[in-house]
Amino acid sequence: MRFIFCAVLIVLMFPWVVVASLNDSSRCILDFPRSESYYQDGDLIIGGVITVHLMRKNFLSDFTTVPFAFNTVCFVPHFMSYQNLLAFVFAIQEINRDPELLPNITLGFHLNENCLQENRANIGALSILSGGTHTVPNYQCDQVHKLVAIVDGISSKVSLLLARLYGMYKIPQIKYAAMDPVLSDRISFPTSYRTVPNENVQYKAIVDLIKHFGWSWVGILASDNESGLQVSQYLHRELSKENSCVAFLELIPYRDILDEKRRTRIVQSLRDPSINVFIVYGDREYMLTLQIILYMFPIPGKVWIISTQWDVSAGFDYFFLNFFPFNGSLALSMRDNHIPGFQDFILGLNPDMYPNDIFLRYIWFEFFYCNIEIHPNDTMRCTGNERVENSSVPEFYKIFSPYSYSVYTAVFAVAHALHNMYLHKGITREDVKGINAWEINKYMKNINFTNGAGENVHFDENGDFSAGFDIISWIVYANESLDGIKVGSYDPQAISRELIINDSIVRWNPVFTKIPMSRCSEICAPGFRKSARQGALSCCYDCIPCPDGEIASEADMDSCTKCPEDQWHNAKRNMCVHKVVTYLSYGEPLGMSLAFISFLLFLLSGFILALFIKKKDTPIVKANNRDLSFILLLSLKMCFLCSLIFIGHPLRVTCILRQTVFGISFSVSVSSILAKTVTVVIAFKAVKPGSHLRKFLGNKFSNSVVLFCSLLQIVICVSWLGTSPPFPRYNMEDEVGKIVAECNEGSLLGFYIVLGYMGFLAFVSFLIAFLARNLPDVFNEAKYITFSMLVFCSVWISFIP
Ligand SMILES: *[C@@H]1O[C@H](CO)[C@@H](O)[C@H](O)[C@H]1NC(C)=O
Ligand SMILES: *[C@@H]1O[C@H](CO)[C@@H](O)[C@H](O)[C@H]1NC(C)=O
Ligand SMILES: *[C@@H]1O[C@H](CO)[C@@H](O)[C@H](O)[C@H]1NC(C)=O
Ligand SMILES: *[C@@H]1O[C@H](CO)[C@@H](O)[C@H](O)[C@H]1NC(C)=O
Ligand SMILES: *[C@@H]1O[C@H](CO)[C@@H](O)[C@H](O)[C@H]1NC(C)=O
Ligand SMILES: *[C@@H]1O[C@H](CO)[C@@H](O)[C@H](O)[C@H]1NC(C)=O
Ligand SMILES: *[C@@H]1O[C@H](CO)[C@@H](O)[C@H](O)[C@H]1NC(C)=O
Ligand SMILES: *[C@@H]1O[C@H](CO)[C@@H](O)[C@H](O)[C@H]1NC(C)=O
Ligand SMILES: *[C@@H]1O[C@H](CO)[C@@H](O)[C@H](O)[C@H]1NC(C)=O
Repeated sequence: MRFIFCAVLIVLMFPWVVVASLNDSSRCILDFPRSESYYQDGDLIIGGVITVHLMRKNFLSDFTTVPFAFNTVCFVPHFMSYQNLLAFVFAIQEINRDPELLPNITLGFHLNENCLQENRANIGALSILSGGTHTVPNYQCDQVHKLVAIVDGISSKVSLLLARLYGMYKIPQIKYAAMDPVLSDRISFPTSYRTVPNENVQYKAIVDLIKHFGWSWVGILASDNESGLQVSQYLHRELSKENSCVAFLELIPYRDILDEKRRTRIVQSLRDPSINVFIVYGDREYMLTLQIILYMFPIPGKVWIISTQWDVSAGFDYFFLNFFPFNGSLALSMRDNHIPGFQDFILGLNPDMYPNDIFLRYIWFEFFYCNIEIHPNDTMRCTGNERVENSSVPEFYKIFSPYSYSVYTAVFAVAHALHNMYLHKGITREDVKGINAWEINKYMKNINFTNGAGENVHFDENGDFSAGFDIISWIVYANESLDGIKVGSYDPQAISRELIINDSIVRWNPVFTKIPMSRCSEICAPGFRKSARQGALSCCYDCIPCPDGEIASEADMDSCTKCPEDQWHNAKRNMCVHKVVTYLSYGEPLGMSLAFISFLLFLLSGFILALFIKKKDTPIVKANNRDLSFILLLSLKMCFLCSLIFIGHPLRVTCILRQTVFGISFSVSVSSILAKTVTVVIAFKAVKPGSHLRKFLGNKFSNSVVLFCSLLQIVICVSWLGTSPPFPRYNMEDEVGKIVAECNEGSLLGFYIVLGYMGFLAFVSFLIAFLARNLPDVFNEAKYITFSMLVFCSVWISFIP
């Protein structure tokens, strides 16, 4: 079954196969559409598909109506593009003149115009293949096939088309303008090379540029085709690695008007004051819509980053569009290299010298408003003395198209590949005709030479040329003229810094007084940290102050850092500073008043002591147990004095003294009260005759009570100091943001025993005084002692915990 099917198929196809392989020159006379071409004969021919004219959009067909005739003349010669053609011719001349390169072989060329149109490019390409000016698909009209390579370019769209066509014939194609990454695909396009870098280098440059200026909130306007999607995805990915975000992405359709809804959305995004930077990817055809939007809704004061796809220097095709919104934009452009001798070549241009150059007459007409064709009575006939330097377009010989250099390099690359092939195969002039174009690919891959501009030319494994980009700052003057200033460059092969840019010469849109910002949120000042907003991109955040004890020393920190333990944030929370050391000092009011009070009380007790001493022989003092009173008053004085040790910066010695001196002197006073109470009790009990308590009446007994009780406290204190004495230390935990200078008790047990012992003494004296409270006599201290001891004990009990 399958066999029958195949057989039928072969039978059906046979006549066509035969026809296609026929070498029938008569077919070339058929009236196939002609294309405008510029031909110069040679031993070998290099084809070129080049744009000289730009077509007005209005004349283009979308195939919904009958397409216009193929041989319509293209309108409006484009001077910059014509320079590409001249560079081609110049390169051929140079090669033919060079005795070293391809000796005894002359190169010719066959250049075809495409008017930036796919259909024209197709026709031109086919006519180059067929030879001559006729377009006969799959036929070779010239007797000897001399085509060795094709140089083509201008738009990636056209280049892709030609790559597919020439790929079938395995003819090497060198692209001088197409940077599309798709062309690096060696499987689809094994015979395609280029003398421009792969576009991907450009996106790295854009990402670096955005990083350089610290823009974190950018919009992308990309062409609505596969490349546009790929590029925006790439930018999305790479920008997020640099902590930048894509605020919006809009795909702009090809030569089309947007619907109302989409346009409103774009205008809204463009007007967003926080987005100041837009990346524009796409050629003039795609960006037409953007220009119309900007014409209808003026949006001044933005920074546009324009990719090489849109050649800004080419100007505009529509009279009503202007470049004002793009004032101060940054554009990437091909490296501006000079072709040595090219300017002289252009200055020497003359229609008489290049009679085959059918494009020159259009240029001449634009330059001098004269016709080259010989009509004897033509009033507008050229005189033959016209010179380029006197033309109406003086820039023509001063500013060169960025692609003229890559055209020049492309032609030289072909010549070097041919040269290497001749050297390798030992071919002489006579063998030239037997050459097969596909064989050249092998040599094309391996070329490595230094061109006239001193640049090393070789292709990488994908047929790409590694070169950098220039960064141009575009200025629009009020008279609508454009001026581009080179402000930096991007070199993918640079060792240290790929992007070099001089910020001080970038001319921003006058709206900006300094380098524009483009951020979703304001920069968080030092002392604040970012706090993500729910459901928003990472570039949109709020700033919240750092928590206590933490700082953010730089702006825009993701998180705050904790200060070391002995440090604390300052008021701005951007630095850690040493914490303030606090203690009760004489300097502050509290310390001063406390010291004053204790000193006053010291004086008071001193006064009473003096009174006692003065009246020591009066009965009332005597009855009051003179010695005990002295001890009590002295120890009270000590107590008041030792409270002064508690004020001031703690030192080792004051720490040791504080508790012990206080403990001992207080114990002495409490024990003297105890002794007093006991004496009172005994005194009343001893009144009864025959009481054996009588012997306890007297100073001896009370003094020994004091001595014993105090000694016990001294023993406790000594053993405390002996084991682990108190020492000064900085307490950082208890008070926020401050360091408290205090005494560590060393051993808490020791401290509590000292305190507990005092409490115990007080309690005992309270108990005894309580028992003695009802003793008769008005001259009874027991009531007072009970009362004061009660107060003391309750204070003591409430304080200790
Ligand atoms: C085509 O025919 C011409 C003469 O008719 C001949 O010289 C030429 O070699 C032929 N070409 C091929 C490829 O057969
Ligand atoms: C070029 O041609 C000349 C004369 O025909 C000859 O002498 C010379 O050897 C040739 N050079 C090469 C490289 O073939
Ligand atoms: C998409 O458009 C861009 C610019 O307009 C062009 O450079 C690129 O080659 C196009 N890509 C494809 C796959 O057509
Ligand atoms: C050119 O002008 C001459 C005289 O001025 C005239 O005789 C001749 O017919 C004109 N030729 C043409 C083609 O008009
Ligand atoms: C160009 O114009 C200048 C003056 O405008 C004139 O002096 C010069 O001779 C002209 N050059 C040529 C080659 O005509
Ligand atoms: C090209 O040749 C130069 C020396 O002439 C050499 O240094 C360089 O590595 C070569 N490049 C490649 C890619 O082979
Ligand atoms: C464009 O920007 C430049 C530089 O900032 C400024 O000098 C010029 O006046 C601007 N042009 C217009 C038309 O505003
Ligand atoms: C436009 O204005 C600028 C500066 O004002 C000037 O340098 C330039 O030559 C002018 N261009 C034209 C075509 O008048
Ligand atoms: C930047 O440009 C200014 C003005 O032309 C120049 O003075 C300065 O040296 C340049 N800086 C760098 C790093 O090239």
